[in-house]
Amino acid sequence: MARDLDQALRHTASRLARSPSARAEAEELLSRLLGLTRLELTLERHRTLSAEDDRRLETWIERRLAGEPPQYITGRAAFRGLDLAVSRAVLIPRPETEGLVEAVLEVLRAEAGRWPAPRVLDLGTGSGAIALAIASEWPSARVTATDAATAALETARSNAERLSLMERVHLLEGEWFDALDADARFEVVVSNPPYVATSEWDLLPHEVRAFEPAPALFAGPTGLEALREIVDLAPRHLVAGGLLALELAEMRAHEVAAWLEGALDWENVSLRDDLTGRPRVLLARRQRGPAIAPAQWGEQ
Ligand SMILES: C[S@@+](CC[C@H](N)C(=O)[O-])C[C@H]1O[C@@H](n2cnc3c(N)ncnc32)[C@H](O)[C@@H]1O
Repeated sequence: MARDLDQALRHTASRLARSPSARAEAEELLSRLLGLTRLELTLERHRTLSAEDDRRLETWIERRLAGEPPQYITGRAAFRGLDLAVSRAVLIPRPETEGLVEAVLEVLRAEAGRWPAPRVLDLGTGSGAIALAIASEWPSARVTATDAATAALETARSNAERLSLMERVHLLEGEWFDALDADARFEVVVSNPPYVATSEWDLLPHEVRAFEPAPALFAGPTGLEALREIVDLAPRHLVAGGLLALELAEMRAHEVAAWLEGALDWENVSLRDDLTGRPRVLLARRQRGPAIAPAQWGEQ
């Protein structure tokens, strides 16, 4: 017998009962499946689910039971109020990355007089989450976003188009700074690079290991490889006083901060905690004199 939305919701929540957020996941799957808001789901609870939608819902429940994250099943992820398309080519944007964006926006607010139209570089943009959130929340920003993965950039491009942000977000393919002209300069360089060590594979939850793209997660044997490359090359592309903002792993945050504290290129190095009190964001300013490292670069 055909189910109404209320029955479908209860059925889905009971199939997903192993998850602590079964009811919320059931609402998310059903509302995405039908293109309804949560409120509409309630208001239309007596509406009958079509046979086709019922079949799709069962497939989605099976995928969820196999551990696939709801965002890959529905193809959608929320990030700072943006509704982003995601596929298995991109990392699912995380709440801690919303904190990274907030930290950048705080500096943009504080520097609005000095940087009326800040140039922002997002390295390893994935779905475009950071770049698009900054472009939408700071309308005078001109954002460049790079990624080494063609499929990730396609997702970022389709998100930028759907959000009508293509005019202010410039997407480039390539390894970290290689995608840029040598003389490209920014007021802000922001990145959530891969920062998991390959040896930590077993520590990741099944949902992450089995479904998220390895190049978005793993940096190399130490987990510090991508961060090192970005920290070493960022001075070359930041204006004097420019901001470097990085997401990193809590257990390596102090080690990375120590690199910058001991280097002449950087000042005002600080770590920011996430909502659970773990240091997950590093902020630093390029010192106001000439770029020091590598020595042969000289001043711009
Ligand atoms: C942790 S994900 C972050 C994605 C997105 N910025 C976010 O916060 O949700 C890291 C991203 O860096 C990209 N990446 C990995 N290695 C790279 C490299 N050598 N050069 C440029 N991008 C790279 C991956 O393709 C992936 O999209």
